[in-house]
Amino acid sequence: MDQPTNKTRRWRSPNRAAWDFYPTPPEATKALLSVEDFSDGSVWEPACGDGAIAKVLADAGLVVNATDLINRGYGLAGFDFLNAASASGKHIITNPPYGRGLADAFVRQALTFTRATGGKVAMLLDLRSRCHPLRHERWAKTPPAVVYALDELSCYPNGVATKAGYKPGRQRFVWCVWMPDHHGPTQLRWLAATQFKDTAPAVKAEEPQREVAA
Ligand SMILES: C[S@@+](CC[C@H](N)C(=O)[O-])C[C@H]1O[C@@H](n2cnc3c(N)ncnc32)[C@H](O)[C@@H]1O
Repeated sequence: MDQPTNKTRRWRSPNRAAWDFYPTPPEATKALLSVEDFSDGSVWEPACGDGAIAKVLADAGLVVNATDLINRGYGLAGFDFLNAASASGKHIITNPPYGRGLADAFVRQALTFTRATGGKVAMLLDLRSRCHPLRHERWAKTPPAVVYALDELSCYPNGVATKAGYKPGRQRFVWCVWMPDHHGPTQLRWLAATQFKDTAPAVKAEEPQREVAA
């Protein structure tokens, strides 16, 4: 697919959130950290949005550099990943913009950087969109080392479920992880994001004490 740049594309598609802002629910990143280690170096979240992924990484004790093209009140704003000259971290973890081939461009750019840093790349992607004839050759040439298939995850435009315009579960999210010097086939693993959902029960009001007749 052609290499897109932000200069050459129109962003305000009526069917997409502006600048493709679909924040990642925290359980997706928690699930990734339960199976992959990034603690041997810094992590770059190059499309950080409002910090949905970066905050979970930082909470886990990782050293995180967060940047985004758009200012969403988190990280360094006005930073175009596709025009970045050098890496801002050993590893790269993000949920990239998807529209019009941008996810492909993010993967390519991330792999270029981690070839130099020796780090891993983890991208949250929609599996359906990866299984496309135009992508086949490139993915076959530079396959991820592992694809983690998430059991359930929904990312909404601007984080607002009611604005989705589609039913939850329409997309099937996977974490694609590229390792330095991986040349073999891709391993497929199942990963339950639901077990990392914040399901703490609401504090229950105390049951009123029944009066017991004497
Ligand atoms: C799908 S959202 C995900 C945000 C965040 N990574 C998360 O997981 O919550 C994609 C983000 O990519 C940003 N973005 C789009 N094009 C970009 C570019 N060329 N460089 C850096 N960030 C970009 C958007 O502003 C948006 O915040």
